[in-house]
Amino acid sequence: MTSEGTTRILGFLCNWCAYAGADLAGVSRVQYPPDMRVIRVMCSGRVDPVLILRAFRNGSDGVAVLGCHPGDCHYQSGNYQAMRKIKLTLQVLEKIGIEPERLLLDWVSAAEGTRFGEVVTGFVRRIRTMGPIDRSGDFPYRAEIGEAVIGGERIRWLVGKELELLEQGNVFGELVDESFFHELMVTNIEREFDRERIRSQLMEAPRNVKQIAHHFGLPMDLVFRHLTDMENTGEVIMTGIHGNTPFFLHRDATPRTECE
Ligand code: FES
Repeated sequence: MTSEGTTRILGFLCNWCAYAGADLAGVSRVQYPPDMRVIRVMCSGRVDPVLILRAFRNGSDGVAVLGCHPGDCHYQSGNYQAMRKIKLTLQVLEKIGIEPERLLLDWVSAAEGTRFGEVVTGFVRRIRTMGPIDRSGDFPYRAEIGEAVIGGERIRWLVGKELELLEQGNVFGELVDESFFHELMVTNIEREFDRERIRSQLMEAPRNVKQIAHHFGLPMDLVFRHLTDMENTGEVIMTGIHGNTPFFLHRDATPRTECE
């Protein structure tokens, strides 16, 4: 367990409720630990998951997003959007080896100064008990991949469409089942996670299917499918064939040599 001042926590507070609650806590002299640094945002729904990943990557041991209670958002549905974004972020955190408990989404109204103190105190205690994130080994790489996955076009599109698909349906007017959507999201996070890792390899040097599969412990046919798709979109180019083996490189790479 770490002590006061040794954990770094970032709090995103919505302007209309949580930030006003924090203000009230201040003028009411509510006591809570000083570990959290605050960024005021207009609504919890405006907190981009990329910013959360970046906070963890750049040194935060915990991130809290505090907004208006459900039903009370100043912009009506912002906090429902926040719930979707945080759910996605939790999945990505788990995937890259950051404990999901390090991310908190909670609600504090402008009249709840005492509750603000309680929520912050509880979260700070939790993070102090967990201690700082272990940033050794490949942590920077994992964090970078996580940020790329969550900021990617495909995942952003899915999160943006979730409420619409669940409540209004798809282009055929068919409502999408929540568990189906969850599975869809899990599959796509997995896909983008593999793609980002492959991308990172092909930015360094030309590689073949076997090398990539071996490096990440992925099935060769899966890597082959990803490479074929990426080649079809022009993202990846085939640089040559050695023996019977094609080598691939990312179009934005500055290649060194082929890895035999
Ligand atoms: Fe507070 Fe939207 S304005 S959560």
